[in-house]
This record gives sequence, C-alpha cells and structure tokens, in this order.
Amino acid sequence: MESPSLTHLVQFRVVSVTAETNDAKSFRLQASEPLSYKPGQFLTIGIPSDRGTVARCYSMSSAPHEDDVTITVKRTPQGYASNWMCDHVAAGDTLTALPPSGNFVPPAQDADVLLFAAGSGITPVMSIAKYVLTQTDRNVALFYANRDPAAVIFAEQLRVMSKDHPERLHVVHWLEELQSLPGTADLQRFASVYPNYSAYACGPEPFMNAVTDALSSQGFPGDRLKREVFQSLSGNPFEIEEMVSEPGADLSSVKGSCNGASFDFDDWPSDVPLLQYLLSKGVDAPFSCRSGECGACCFQLIEGAVEMEQNDVLDADELADGYRLACQAKPSSESIVITYD
Ligand code: FES
Repeated sequence: MESPSLTHLVQFRVVSVTAETNDAKSFRLQASEPLSYKPGQFLTIGIPSDRGTVARCYSMSSAPHEDDVTITVKRTPQGYASNWMCDHVAAGDTLTALPPSGNFVPPAQDADVLLFAAGSGITPVMSIAKYVLTQTDRNVALFYANRDPAAVIFAEQLRVMSKDHPERLHVVHWLEELQSLPGTADLQRFASVYPNYSAYACGPEPFMNAVTDALSSQGFPGDRLKREVFQSLSGNPFEIEEMVSEPGADLSSVKGSCNGASFDFDDWPSDVPLLQYLLSKGVDAPFSCRSGECGACCFQLIEGAVEMEQNDVLDADELADGYRLACQAKPSSESIVITYD
C-alpha cells in the first residue's frame, strides 16, 4: 500500500496585514492556485517553531465571493502560533496551509441565520454573515460579545453592513465591562425573537455552552445549532506517518464519493484509519488535525459501520445522522458506503 502524501498543500502570499484591534490582525492572502472554500471554513497553517512545523487552524473572515482570502488572528496569552503570526508575518511573506476545511458552514438552502460570537469567534461568523447577506436573500441576526469596545473586531465593517442591509441584519453588541458575561437568560431573550432561524455559535466554551442551554431550553432543535470548536492540535498534519497494517488484517470494502469523484476499493485493512487509506488511494479526502479534534475529515456513513477511536467534535445528533471522522474511523463491517459531498 502506498503511503499517503501531502500533495495538496497551498501556498499563500500575504498581500496585506491590518490591525483590527490591539491584539487582533487580519491577513489578506492570495493563493498560488484557484481556491474554493465555503463560508465559515478554516485554513490549517504551518508555523515554524523550535520543534519544527506546528499547525494551527485559523478561520477565514472573508467570504468565498471576495477576491482574496482573509484570516483574522487574535493573540492569546502563551499562544505561540497566534503571537508568531501577529509578530512576524508581513506583506510579501509566504504561508503554507492545508486546503480550506471545516463543517461550520451554512447549507446552500437554509433558513435565516442566528449568529452568536464572542471575541475572535466572530471570524467564521463574519464569513457566514457576509455570505448570507450578499449571496442570498435571507436575514441575519448577530449577538456579539466582547470585553469592552476596544476589543470589538470588525466594529466598522459591521456598522457598514448594518447600514447597507438595515432590514436584513440585526446586530446586538454585548460588552462585558458594562453588562457582565452574557448568561443563558440574556441569550434566550435575544434568540426568542428568531425561533425559526438556524443558529451558529463560535467563542469560548462557557459562551457556547450558554448559547446551547439558551436555545435548547426554548425547544430549539439541536440539529439547527452548529458550534465551531477550536482546540490546539496535538498532532502535526504537515507530517504524514508511514501507514502500517499488520499482515493478515481483515479487509473491508469502501465505496463513496468525494469532491464529486466516485471511488470503490476493496482492501481497507481493519487496523488503518479510513483517512490514511483513502489518501493512499489518491482520494482527495479533506483533513486537518488527524487526531479527532477538528472535524475537517467528517464524512457521512450511508451503509455499514465504523468505530472511531476518538471524537471531540461530533455531537449525538451528528452521529445519529451518520457523520463520522475519517481520521479516527476503522471498519467494523465488511463493507461501507460513504459520502463527503
Ligand atoms: Fe481533524 Fe479528523 S482531521 S478530526
């Protein structure tokens, strides 16, 4: 079996760097090749360090219809990679990344959207808001929490967007220095006006939990709330390990489609994760962390069964809908049928 390779790395030239606040910068990037992505997705960027390359996921704040790709990065205390980005990356530099990935994406046919963001969680939310306002006729309601006015990333852009779409965009800025942390009751009050919207939340875990509690206590269906969870990646997706399978391992078949291309293989060893197997077969399967932490490799199981070693991202509703992580999935049936599309 061939080893998987990183043939699909993307080089980006940094076109400009803009300070959004004292501790957040936007990096406008130009890809070395045509790049398609969906609103709300992220790039996994390789950051040089003493330990070799480390990988970090940064959401795009741009929307796909815009000319350049923009990521927005906020410093975090002791955050090596985000501080390195803010301190060292300048116009003219080159960054290497995995292709865009992530599932914090509104479907093409969706309801109006209810967005919750706290701090730098606004980044993918901004991408979704821009997409929905300019590429659809749907409405957007945004609850955006920050420590104080100086910490509000995209304050001016949001003001302009509200002016351009007064009937379709409703933004509530929540400032913790004046109003304390937003609690479940505060979020409920905001959400209660939009019972039929689809919800998207990105921010620190306590904020996301408060959003989840607020919506579920109002009877909001769990499958209409998407949460974006970023964790530091423990593995390094820029280094691909040798694929090892014990001689005599059981073999399963896997049939499916990815990026519109079909595949049908019949020698998937029971001790090899599906992602590694598909990459070794030349399938352009998406991935980032390869350790069950980011959701980039998510696929939908249509027939058969797999077992996952680790899952920090898929919730009970997503599992019930057949979603699984390819980097963690090993076969537990003789054949499976899947789709990435
Ligand atoms: Fe991140 Fe599989 S690649 S969860």
